[in-house]
Amino acid sequence: MDQWSFTYSNERVAFINEQMKFQPFYVLYGLNWLRQVLLKKQRNPTQIREGNMADNPLEWIFARRSIRKFHSNPVEDEKIDLMLQAAMAAPSANNAKPWHFIVVKDRQTLNRLAEIHPYAKMCYEATLAIVVCADPAISKNYWQQDCSAATQNVLLVGTSLGLGTVWLGVHPRLERRALIKKLFSVPDDMEVLSIVAVGYPAEKKQSRTQFDSGRVHHEAW
Ligand SMILES: Cc1cc2nc3c(=O)[nH]c(=O)nc-3n(C[C@H](O)[C@H](O)[C@H](O)COP(=O)(O)O)c2cc1C
Repeated sequence: MDQWSFTYSNERVAFINEQMKFQPFYVLYGLNWLRQVLLKKQRNPTQIREGNMADNPLEWIFARRSIRKFHSNPVEDEKIDLMLQAAMAAPSANNAKPWHFIVVKDRQTLNRLAEIHPYAKMCYEATLAIVVCADPAISKNYWQQDCSAATQNVLLVGTSLGLGTVWLGVHPRLERRALIKKLFSVPDDMEVLSIVAVGYPAEKKQSRTQFDSGRVHHEAW
């Protein structure tokens, strides 16, 4: 027998075969461990890096600004779907979810929106609007807060997807509500909380927090 050839006993071969069975699991464990390490790295709030929003959701909160100038390219359906998914992930009192959303892409309707809402001229350029409505019968006392949380989620996820967004106030302005309900054929017993105008941003705004320590009270006012 030369020095390179050797043989295993039958028992040894059986043992190795048994171990080989579990090899795919070792690979999976290894991959999972790597995934955990990478995820932990992403979640570490000390690692905020300017301009790299994908790394840290905190960046989206600071980067979200009201954008009122837009390019003409349309927002992809996948992104619209993600914004709606985010909207409906919002918290709501008793998990009542009183919201309804109207997705508006039609140029004529967006132009009309710009005409009837006193502070929505950017809708002449926006390629999308999401009208946030509520069924007050589902949440009489909290629909405003619930739909505000949903609106904010749309703004944040829009930002994270590279879109520009701006919140257009509707509730509690009765005259705006009437015009908007008419334009979008919203049933009489429904409310309109807000509209989010969306598009690819044609203006840049600085990330910021506006943190003011004077507004923070510790333990009591
Ligand atoms: C309830 C509410 C109503 C708003 N309504 C309008 C509006 O009608 N038109 C508009 O251009 N911006 C509107 N905004 C956006 C604010 O003007 C904007 O958030 C504020 O100036 C701060 O700027 P930023 O969003 O860039 O941080 C509204 C915001 C909120 C929360």
